[in-house]
Amino acid sequence: MSAITRVVSSRSGLRAAYAELPTGTVRAVVPTMGALHSGHAQLIRAARALVGQAGHVTVTVFVNPTQFAAGEDLDRYPRSFDSDVEVCAAEGADLVFAPSVETVYLDPEPMVTIDPGPLGTLLEGAVRPGHFRGVLTVVAKLVSMTGASLLLLGEKDFQQLVLVRRMVRDLDLPVEVVGVPTVRADDGLALSSRNVYLSDAERLAAITVPRALEIGVETARAGGSARDVLSAAQSHLQGRDEFEIDYMVVTDPDLGPAPESGEGRLLMAARIGKVRLLDNVRIDLGVGG
Ligand code: PAF
Repeated sequence: MSAITRVVSSRSGLRAAYAELPTGTVRAVVPTMGALHSGHAQLIRAARALVGQAGHVTVTVFVNPTQFAAGEDLDRYPRSFDSDVEVCAAEGADLVFAPSVETVYLDPEPMVTIDPGPLGTLLEGAVRPGHFRGVLTVVAKLVSMTGASLLLLGEKDFQQLVLVRRMVRDLDLPVEVVGVPTVRADDGLALSSRNVYLSDAERLAAITVPRALEIGVETARAGGSARDVLSAAQSHLQGRDEFEIDYMVVTDPDLGPAPESGEGRLLMAARIGKVRLLDNVRIDLGVGG
């Protein structure tokens, strides 16, 4: 674990930091929007484990404006830079790259962006038009700027993970994408920077979401089909007026149609008050034979 984590905010600072590394140093990047929690800490730990003590871990802290639609929470997105740097230091990150918007986007409205394709218009993309174009564009830029050969992302934003993998494959980007399992609070709620917006009552109600997903997992384990999984999970949320469900679906691991057997994914997003809760779990279908 490094005692000191260096912080840079300019492209030249980033280049200078990398120029000091011995040739061949394996580098990983963990892109974040700050407001770091234990889920991010887990990503940094996973990065360190992959590159080893001789490798190098960069955490980027950048609230990317192009992935927020008008009217979303860009201005009030939680920001906690000093404690973010502490988390990075505690987890042994070598470098924090915290650029300004002007450093990342040389033009306020970039002319060339990355089209996420049809998958970018489904699920989160249907609720947040343009979101994944912004995500893929900034992730490609951060990969390019850092030159990392490993890119770590959480499974919590599963559609983001699938789309980034797809971008890397379709555009031959020289980076390996590593998905890291979701970190949950003791009561099962998936950690998210936006959980700070939940009132006490909403926070209590929010555990219905992971519970519904768990019921889906149990239904699959008992031999249920994708349809059974969905209806079992949905019925757990029925009558809960505090929730508005944006979507709940069963897919394959690439977000294609649910398979009859093998690995699937149960994903949902629900609104509670002003907060959108996103969660997903792996399910194994067709186990009943
Ligand atoms: O998951 C996030 O925090 C963001 O979407 C990411 C990957 C850092 C891009 O801004």
